[in-house]
Order: sequence, then C-alpha cells, then structure tokens
Amino acid sequence: MELDLINSPIVEDFKRGMLQGRKSIPPKYFYDDVGSRLFDQICDLPEYYPTRVESGLLKNISAELINFVKPDCITELGSGSSRKTRHLFDACQKLNYGLLYEPVDVCQEMLNWSSSNLEKKYDWLSVNPIVADYNEEIKWKVNDSRRRLFVFLGGTIGNFDAALALQFLKKLKNEMGSDDYLLIGADRVKRPDLLHAAYNDRAGYTAKFNLNVLSVFNKKLKTKFLKENFHHYAFYNPIESQIEMHLVSSSEQYVEVSALNEKLYFHQGESILTEISRKFTKKSFEKLLKEAGFQVERHFESDQLKFSLILAHPSS
Ligand code: AVJ
Repeated sequence: MELDLINSPIVEDFKRGMLQGRKSIPPKYFYDDVGSRLFDQICDLPEYYPTRVESGLLKNISAELINFVKPDCITELGSGSSRKTRHLFDACQKLNYGLLYEPVDVCQEMLNWSSSNLEKKYDWLSVNPIVADYNEEIKWKVNDSRRRLFVFLGGTIGNFDAALALQFLKKLKNEMGSDDYLLIGADRVKRPDLLHAAYNDRAGYTAKFNLNVLSVFNKKLKTKFLKENFHHYAFYNPIESQIEMHLVSSSEQYVEVSALNEKLYFHQGESILTEISRKFTKKSFEKLLKEAGFQVERHFESDQLKFSLILAHPSS
C-alpha cells in the first residue's frame, strides 16, 4: 500500500463499509471537486426543493438572527458554495454589521472558489476558510473568545443515522461556548412522491452525483469501478422516514481494489448504500436537539412546512 494511504481515513472507511457485510460508503466522499459542483447543480433542479425553500426561509429571518445572536463569527460546517449563507451577509451589510466568516468544508477547490467570490462581493467580510472533515478533525475548534454562530444547513444532519446525529451534535455542543448559537436546517417529512422526485430528477444530475463517488474511489484508492455496471437507485422509506440512495450492481462482477490488493465481489442486484437522508417532523427535530443538550431558542418553518431551521444554544 502506498505510504500516504496507510491508516488514512478513506482506507479505514472503505474497509469498514465495503469489505464486510452490507456495502455502504459514508456520504462525505461525494464531495470531491466534480461532486461538489454536481451537488451545486442539484440545488438548481426543479425537483430539488430543499435548497430553494431553505434559502427563502433564511432570507426572511437573516436580519432577525443577526440582531438576536450578534455573532463575532459565523462558522459554517459543510459550507460548499456558501450560496445560502449569503443571505446572512446581506443582512449584515444592511445592518452595517461586520464579522468573520469561517467556512469549513472537505473540498479545497470549492472553498477557494467560494471564499474568493465572497471577498469580492463583501469587501468588509473577513473569510477564514478551513479545509477539514467536521466529523473527524476539530482543527477549527477555537480557543478565542469570539461569539460564534455555528451554521449547519441543507438538512445535512439527515445524512447521519439517529445514533450518529446525536453523537455529532453532542460533540459540537461540547465545543461551543455558552454564548454561542447553532443554526441548523432539516428537511421535513412530506408526501413520498415529492421526496422521491427530489432524488430522482429527470435531468439525471442526482444519478451522476451518486455514480461520481465511484470515480472518487477510482482516483483515491485505485479501484476499478466501471460506472456503466451500476445504477442509481433512490427511494423514500416511510417506515424510517428517510431517503435511501444506492448504487446497484447490474450484474455479477468483481471490482479490483489495487491499493488494498483486494477484489470486491458483487452479486447481481447487490447494492452499495451511499446515503440516507432523514426527514423530520417538528417534534422529531426538536427532540434530537434536546437530547443532544441544546435548548431550542426558535423554530422557523417554511411555507407548507417543507423545511425547518432551528436556532439553538447549549443548555446549561
Ligand atoms: C447534502 C444533505 C443537502 O441529503 O438532500 C442531494 C445531498 N443527495 N441529492 C440531501 C443530496 C442527493 C443532500 N444534502
């Protein structure tokens, strides 16, 4: 094995997910350069309502949020293109309110691009981009006395199963100061056909996004996945209230994993679970935050209750 791969998280994740039992891959591997851009394109699709709805909601409450929290710094986990976050900066600009922005993302290219765009548009804004996996590293953990508004948008909390979501939020809470706040978004339970359509767009971007994870492994682990041998399959499971996204093997096949000196066997129809996206009710979302040790300060709901944003702070 190449030296830089020994003990690297990607090898550990791949072994854990792909070499034993039901195959799965953590969704963070979607977001290389290509995947991050594909996700950005998904956000503009007619069927993919969450981004538009959350963005509209955030726009409406931005000024109120800034005035209420009065943050010195906005730290965003999984900032991507920072498109929705601009509503917060627009509000700051109107209020003549300066602050620091710390976007945290696994994709270096996306961070560079979005940071330079933001600095062009908002010349008063200091941007301190941090390339990190917010699950593993806590390099962005801060020892200064800044009052922070942590922002975790997109409904990404739904990509964690119940236990991991709780663990992640508890860890985040422990890293927060007692004056810090968390603004967190979650997609809501709704008609299954609407949910289904959002992950099965007609233009095929979600399928491309899903299949791109195979290219990520081909590049990083020198696997020999052939995209044409897998199908995108996403559906809503109303028992678990979650979208489940898979890559299904169209035939019996072996896939070489050169970096690990292994061969992966797939039976015909066998799937890799690439993502779950949990959908919440008002109650289940608030319950999650309370269990993690947060106090729900405000719960903002969009029109037709499609999406939720909760402002919370660590309960003492
Ligand atoms: C990254 C959590 C916003 O779960 O809806 C979009 C990712 N996957 N289409 C989601 C995604 C397929 C997305 N989030």
